[in-house]
Amino acid sequence: MGAQVINGKLISDTIREEVKVEAAKLQQQGIVPGLAVVLVGEDPASKVYVGSKEKACQQLGFYSEVHRLGADTTEQQLLALIDKLNNQASINGILVQLPLPKHINEKAVIDAIRVDKDVDGFHPESVGNLVIGDDSLLPCTPAGVIELIKRSGTEISGKHAVIIGRSNIVGKPVAMLLLRENATVSICHSRTANLKEIASQADIVVAAIGKPNAIDRSYIKPGAVVIDVGINRLPDGKLVGDVHYEDCLETAGAITPVPGGVGPMTITMLMQNTLKAAKKAHG
Ligand code: GUN
Repeated sequence: MGAQVINGKLISDTIREEVKVEAAKLQQQGIVPGLAVVLVGEDPASKVYVGSKEKACQQLGFYSEVHRLGADTTEQQLLALIDKLNNQASINGILVQLPLPKHINEKAVIDAIRVDKDVDGFHPESVGNLVIGDDSLLPCTPAGVIELIKRSGTEISGKHAVIIGRSNIVGKPVAMLLLRENATVSICHSRTANLKEIASQADIVVAAIGKPNAIDRSYIKPGAVVIDVGINRLPDGKLVGDVHYEDCLETAGAITPVPGGVGPMTITMLMQNTLKAAKKAHG
């Protein structure tokens, strides 16, 4: 029996529809969720991402502002814009697209965003709230991973989840979210001595290491749920995950494809965060 393929596009579309319905209800009270996206410089991938975020706002009836700034923008100028957006009532969420040009201190910029508008969940106080378990805006990709697991019909509580990767934007927050869902969590990384032994005990595997096709079926317990956060481009142009999808398809109980798994969830969770921030802002 092959694995259940977890359709990220379909789940993402379903959540977007839910967000759209909620946004329409808010609109009846005169509230329109507003997202400001700030792009500094000309990074081609960032331009595409920012365009997708703008489109998602239009699709869901959100107000959006996209600030496209030149690569020579100073940190001072960027901080001044964030200060303005922090105090702008029509804006509920602020996202500064990363990476920033090298002359700008990324941490100083993230720290300047109001925590209640931090729809990326990157502010240290948002990270602290995530660890403590307070109700706060959750980082988008990790929140998307949890939604995919839940909406594929998997009970998380009591399961052994193994995260492969310890980045601040995926590995660590995913571990914290799974812990909140009462999983037993192991975090593995490049220095883990016996990765295969640990991963193959997992009921849930989340791979986020940025190495194409690195995880084959020898790492996977039969029936395990496999969530692949990796997006890697091979020399021939093909997009693949960190998990060798075809190799794991017969072993896993459920698995996300790349593309079409975690990828579509990130912007959807951003929209959900913006909706949540708008609701909170209006009590
Ligand atoms: N660049 C790539 N992914 C992201 C993201 O999720 N948020 C921000 N701000 N920048 C990114």
